[in-house]
Amino acid sequence: MSEVLINKVAFVTGGGSGIGEASAKALADAGASVAVADVDMVGADRVVEEILASGGIAKSYKLDVSDDAAVGTVIAAISKDFGGLHIAVNNAGIGGELAATGDQTPAGWRRVLSVNLDGVFYCMRHEIAEMKKSGNGSIINMASILGAVGFANSSGYVAAKHGVIGLTQTAAIEYASDGIRVNAVGPGFINTPLLAVLPADALVGIAALHPMNRLGTSEEVAALVLFLALPEASFITGGYYPVDGGYLAR
Ligand SMILES: NC(=O)c1ccc[n+]([C@@H]2O[C@H](COP(=O)([O-])OP(=O)(O)OC[C@H]3O[C@@H](n4cnc5c(N)ncnc54)[C@H](O)[C@@H]3O)[C@@H](O)[C@H]2O)c1
Repeated sequence: MSEVLINKVAFVTGGGSGIGEASAKALADAGASVAVADVDMVGADRVVEEILASGGIAKSYKLDVSDDAAVGTVIAAISKDFGGLHIAVNNAGIGGELAATGDQTPAGWRRVLSVNLDGVFYCMRHEIAEMKKSGNGSIINMASILGAVGFANSSGYVAAKHGVIGLTQTAAIEYASDGIRVNAVGPGFINTPLLAVLPADALVGIAALHPMNRLGTSEEVAALVLFLALPEASFITGGYYPVDGGYLAR
């Protein structure tokens, strides 16, 4: 474990699986105290146990990010438990309905927007209030390559991720003078449980859309999340950074 983030408090939503899990572990390995928040407490508790077993500091919190009041309650609890909030990884997300735009249901559209976009906004508004108290913070929003381009049969998901990038840029402008940096990460297709709904042959085709001809790993995304949290990233705000094996370069 390194000590570069010692005395820093990090909050990771969707921290019980996939990219959130890898990010929580990377931040803990760098010395941060990590609040692992998830709707799924089995996953969150497992991640916390693994961080504690490797000598890190972590605690789990049950949270549905689409509930603004619940987000406020959890962030207040984290601040009380750990004495502040300095790093936030707004990562919780769902895949959404797989249907062409004309066939998406209003309920499916609302559900994916409520978790993947409203949830990021709710987290940010409570995180910003907390970070303003200490005068420094790094907010890292998990967008996607699908925040920059379209993808058939995923219009709700794509719209939410485009929204996350606009929200990131806007808040970066607003809070630069408060010492709060806000950036977005754009993973390509990453081998996590989120892709489990797709058949194996579809995954081979999706891997081929990346010039590296493979899916990414959660750890490859977490490496960028960690960098954006570090003091070395002090002049980086308002950015959108793909981690995509070249997907967007095509
Ligand atoms: N896997 C990919 O290919 C990929 C690509 C680009 C972006 N992303 C984004 O990365 C993020 C993490 O995805 P992942 O692939 O690690 O998925 P995952 O399914 O492995 O993990 C997502 C986690 O979020 C939690 N979660 C879901 N809804 C929640 C809610 N309302 N409140 C709190 N927690 C909730 C889940 O319980 C789960 O633990 C998502 O925002 C996703 O859109 C994933």
